[in-house]
Amino acid sequence: MTKRVAIFLSGGGSNMRALVEDMTGDHPARPCVVVSNVADAGGIAWAKARGIATEVVDHKPFQGDRAAFEAELSSRLAAYAPDIICLAGFMRKLTAEFTDAWAGRMINIHPSLLPLYKGLHTHARALEAGDTVHGCTVHEVTAALDDGPILGQARVPVLPGDTADDLAARVLVQEHRLYPAVLRRFAAGDRSLLTLDS
Ligand code: GRF
Repeated sequence: MTKRVAIFLSGGGSNMRALVEDMTGDHPARPCVVVSNVADAGGIAWAKARGIATEVVDHKPFQGDRAAFEAELSSRLAAYAPDIICLAGFMRKLTAEFTDAWAGRMINIHPSLLPLYKGLHTHARALEAGDTVHGCTVHEVTAALDDGPILGQARVPVLPGDTADDLAARVLVQEHRLYPAVLRRFAAGDRSLLTLDS
């Protein structure tokens, strides 16, 4: 049966777009809703223009009460009955209650070769470390930030003279290849590791 995918984002949503554009034809999943904590996120406008349902849950009124924020997220989500959540640049930490409720059904893309560089500023940290290879990872979401079983990784060379922005742009191109490829497999029940080289 076709899987229903909710995509969470906070920004431009280029990964969300790559996922949505891939979910056609024989793909085992379809988008059911795009969710953001940021009302004017570019990804929300794009999804609306494509006729995809959207929900905005601003986190600010829930300051200091992640459980209440997540209760609102869950109640909005319920109407769409998603099978899978894809985090795609969703910049809120989720509590263990939420990640446990979605264990094995929620995935994330992170711009580093995990377990290296969890958290922010991954490109600058890779450059600072003198890495010659960098990349991105799609993983199942668990309570620990940027942790959880790894489903796929794409490796990207670090070139002499690269700035963090250069590297971020090169990694993003691979994110747009990796995330749709992993979602296709994941939605079909395949959790084996996918490795891409650019
Ligand atoms: C991507 O680099 C993703 O890996 C990270 O946040 C960024 C989101 O970009 N988690 P976009 O909104 O998908 O363009």
